[in-house]
Amino acid sequence: MKIFTEKIEIIKETRRLKEKKQTIGFVPTMGALHEGHMSMVKEALKNNDTVIVSIFVNPTQFNNPSDLDKYPRTLDRDTELLGTVSPYIIVYAPSVSDIYEGNTKAENFSFDGLEFEMEGKFRTGHFDGVGTIVKRLFEILKPDNAYFGEKDFQQLAIVQKLVQKYDIPVNVLGCPIYRENNGLAMSSRNERLKIAYKKAAPFIYKTLKIAKKQFGTKSAKQVSEWVEKQFANHELLELEYFIIADVLTLKSVKRKSNKKTYRAFIAVFADDIRLIDNIALN
Ligand code: PAJ
Repeated sequence: MKIFTEKIEIIKETRRLKEKKQTIGFVPTMGALHEGHMSMVKEALKNNDTVIVSIFVNPTQFNNPSDLDKYPRTLDRDTELLGTVSPYIIVYAPSVSDIYEGNTKAENFSFDGLEFEMEGKFRTGHFDGVGTIVKRLFEILKPDNAYFGEKDFQQLAIVQKLVQKYDIPVNVLGCPIYRENNGLAMSSRNERLKIAYKKAAPFIYKTLKIAKKQFGTKSAKQVSEWVEKQFANHELLELEYFIIADVLTLKSVKRKSNKKTYRAFIAVFADDIRLIDNIALN
């Protein structure tokens, strides 16, 4: 497996690939890879001649410094895991200075309001950091196809907006949420859950599934109130938000319309670990 740590080198490599008319599929990650990431890598392998996986814990998207410090860095394990699906995957694992060249700051973006909803309300500046790194990685790697998980649905929507606004020639593809057998959405944070919280966490997806059923006959307000009650009664899990939103604007729905597509989004604290999930409603 080829591992690059410097953009100059990977730019040369991608130029070579382009000259050979190879298509490049790109899966950006922050490492600590799990089956959720691997499902996207496998999808990229199916549809591209070459797959590049970036592994970079991006400092500008962390609004909480201790979250950045605690973020697991497991490059050896990650490359080993990638090697089990294909020896030909290219890994780009740059240093902070390779990406930010001494100016570790996020650019300011406007994503037409998408950035102010949900995660944007609770993680100030987060999407400027995401926009900055994703734009730079697209400029360096010039992929044909880029894969993002629906687990971070708002991030996926924002990347689609970024590509559209800056006219970046890449096809952004969303991948379904990969779950543990018990329904819990896979996340590197799950590893940090204490045992009681790990047992409790599947309650999040169970509640989302019931909310989806209810949405067929009840109003968004009624469903939201029901979900809020479930968490108010829960001993371990603390609800941060539950929102039913229009998938295009990510604005919370006031009045249901048959012509619109909705999704329910949730953020929950399990002790000090923040878990997010979402589900398509119609
Ligand atoms: P990270 O959290 O490592 O996630 C990398 C990609 O994996 C994202 O597109 C995310 O949505 C997807 N992913 C995570 N868990 C998933 C699951 N259970 N099922 C399906 N996909 C899943 O998201 C980031 O990194 C960063 O913000 C990044 C885009 C790399 C920019 O720094």
